[in-house]
Parts: sequence; structure tokens; C-alpha cells
Amino acid sequence: NVSDVGIDAIALSVPRGYVDLAELAEARGVPPSKYLHGLGTRQMAIAAPDEDPVTLAVNAARRLFERSGASPAEIGLCIVGTETAVDHSKPVAAFVHGLLGLPSACRMFEAKHACFGGTAGLLSAVDWIASGSARGRAALVVCTDIARYPLRSAGEPTQGAGAVALLVREKPRLLSLEVGQTGTFARDVHDFWRPLHHKEALVDGHYSVQCYLDALEGAYDAWRRLDGATDEPLVRTCYHVPYGKMARKAHRHRRMLDGATEQAADASFGVEVEPSLDLPSRIGNVYTGSLYLALASLLNTQARELAGRRIGLFSYGSGCCAEFFAGRTAPEAAALVDRLDIDGPLRDSRQMTVADYERLRAEDAAADRRTAPESARPRGKANECDRAVYLGVD
Ligand code: CAA
Repeated sequence: NVSDVGIDAIALSVPRGYVDLAELAEARGVPPSKYLHGLGTRQMAIAAPDEDPVTLAVNAARRLFERSGASPAEIGLCIVGTETAVDHSKPVAAFVHGLLGLPSACRMFEAKHACFGGTAGLLSAVDWIASGSARGRAALVVCTDIARYPLRSAGEPTQGAGAVALLVREKPRLLSLEVGQTGTFARDVHDFWRPLHHKEALVDGHYSVQCYLDALEGAYDAWRRLDGATDEPLVRTCYHVPYGKMARKAHRHRRMLDGATEQAADASFGVEVEPSLDLPSRIGNVYTGSLYLALASLLNTQARELAGRRIGLFSYGSGCCAEFFAGRTAPEAAALVDRLDIDGPLRDSRQMTVADYERLRAEDAAADRRTAPESARPRGKANECDRAVYLGVD
């Protein structure tokens, strides 16, 4: 069995355009401080019609190979985590496999569980390598999503889009994960969902925040009970980041479980979490890739000082499943981060006006009306209606 397994390289792709949240707040008649400080968001990436989850995934994976020096020929497993799939049957992984020219001797599939799909992919890849099944090959895990809520809804300022590609292999150059040492929590809850044929997610917003915190508590408790889990402190922790404030709430909750006062928990936030929030605040929620965007942010800014240090990771997927686990930054991480140019794709993105963003959404809705069969169109009062269907009530 192989024991040193983890994330060897990371690459991102983002849409060409983003909306500035101070401008969105103004357009919505909301004080900008609510979005900037209340939610902890600054910009949200907006995908154009030609920037679907496949395009984003392929661009991130291409960049991963170009920058890391790895070859597609080394891949024996390709998993795409997404909750905005383009087909109910054919996986996004198949498009990625074809467009990247991955070997035919390669297992590929798509993992869906809301924002947990990327972590499901990563941990499966780690187990595949640790078990010896990989026989020296590497895994490609791509998280790709477009986070979309109705215009003018409470969720609107927490949108985003993008993909995060991860190369997973033995003797990783970025982060060794503690194989088999994860704390898991699962519960059937109805906090966030997207019925078939809906492009926009439906969410019970405040309840979803509570579900996230309950799941964090469950997963962290399970992790803390593992042998040796708490022997060495976690110097940083990356959380799933639907919006920056959620990571702040999560950190406070977790540190208070450790016995810290609320003030002490908040005081540790700047050192232990804030460096991981730069990219999420510039891109928004990328669902399955959100935790890995936080990790990318952390390594992009602090890989040098974190060499050999232990980092915590928390993944949450509505519905819900959550996992807490840890890893150690590789000594060569800083040198590789320089080569990866992790935030390079953001240099090419351009601000769009709120009017342009609204026009894009209107055109997309019109195109859907033209092309989708009547039976596939979301019904009028989707929220109440679908909830009733799912809950089995009249
Ligand atoms: N200045 C500064 N702060 C202000 C403010 C102002 N003028 N006005 C309000 N605020 C603060 C509020 O006090 C509040 O802070 P706290 O959370 O610390 O109390 C914060 O801004 C947000 O205000 P509201 O609670 O009134 O916000 P809202 O009701 O409009 O919506 C939300 C918030 C429910 C998170 C909504 O954005 C939403 O539904 N988002 C999508 C769902 C989501 O992201 N859930 C997260 C958990 S689920 C998950 O993680 C999976 C996933 O990826 C979706």
C-alpha cells in the first residue's frame, strides 16, 4: 500500500466576466456593506453561454498539465465533481477525457452530491492510489460548476462560476493528505436543491447555514475522535466557502468546539483562515471547487511559510454530507506554486456591468424557452411545487 498520497498540482479556470458586488448592491437598492462585509463577497464570476461546465473543466485541466509538467498519459482515473452537469447520463468526465486525450485504460465518472462532489472525487482518488490499484498512475479530479440563483433573490450575491483541477498522486508536491483519517457526517436535509431542468438553485438560505454548521460539528467531532488527529495543531483551516462570512461563522463554531471563547475564535480567524479567502472573494461560489479554491488561495499566498505544516480541510455538500480531514504542505510546494501561476486566469477576466449581466441572463432564459420542450420547462411556482413533490405532501 502507498501511504504518501495527496494533491500534486492545482489549476483554475474562470469565466471571462465578473460583476462587482458593490455595483450589484447599488442596483438592488441594498447597502454595499451588506454584500462586502455582511456576506464577505467582492466579485462574482459570470459564465457566458460558451462557458459551460465542460469548457471550464477542460480549460482548468489543460492548464494543470501545461503548468505542472505532468502528462495526460499518466492518468488512470478521471473524476469530475459537479452539480451543474450537462447531461443526466453522459458524464462531464467523458468530455474531459476526450478533449484532453486521456488514455483509454482510464476509469472515468462524474460525482454528484451538491458541493461535496469534488471531495467525493478527491477522496476516492486518494483511496485508489493508497490501495495500490493505481499501480503508479495518477488521478485527475476536476470540480466544475456554475452557481446560479434567481435574479434579485437573497442568494444572488453568492453566485460564481469556475473550475478547479487537481492532480492526485503519490509523493505529492503540494499537499500530502492523511489517508483514511477523515471525519464524516451525513444527514438527509432539504436545505438546497435544484430540480431537474432548473438552471437556478432553490435554497432555504438561513436553514442551509444551520445545516452547514451542524454538519461541521458532526464531521469535526468524528475527526477529533480518530487516533492521533489532535496530536499536532492545524495551523490553517480551509472551509467550503459559499461566501466569505460562512467561513468566518464555521471557524468560530469549530474553535468554540475546541473550547475557545467567541472572542478568541474570532481573533484566530485572520491568521488561520483569511489567507484562504482571497480567490473565493474574487470568483464567488464555485460549489464543488469551493474548498479547493480556498486551498489554492492559501498555497498561492503562503506556501513558503507553510512548508511542513499541517492544514485542516472542511467540505460541505447540501443535502447533506460533510467531511473534515487534514494534510501537510510539501517542502517543494512554494517552488511549484511559482510555476503553477494559480491566479493567472483571473488576470484575463473583465468587469461587466449589472446591465450586461442581466442581459446575459435574459438571453439565456429566452434561448432555453426556444429550445427546451414544454415538458422540460420549470413550472411557475417551482419552489413550493417541487418542495411539495420532494416532501410527498399535497
Ligand atoms: N452592513 C453590514 N452587514 C450587514 C448589513 C449592512 N448594511 N445588512 C445585513 N448585514 C449582515 C447581516 O447582519 C448578516 O450577518 P450575520 O450572518 O453575521 O448575521 C449578513 O449580512 C447577511 O444578512 P442576511 O442574513 O439578512 O442575508 P440574507 O437573508 O439576504 O441572505 C443568505 C443570506 C441566506 C446566506 C443568502 O445569501 C443565501 O441564501 N445564499 C445561498 C445559500 C448559501 O450559500 N448557503 C450557505 C450554506 S449551504 C452551502 O454552503 C452549500 C452551497 O454552497 C450553497
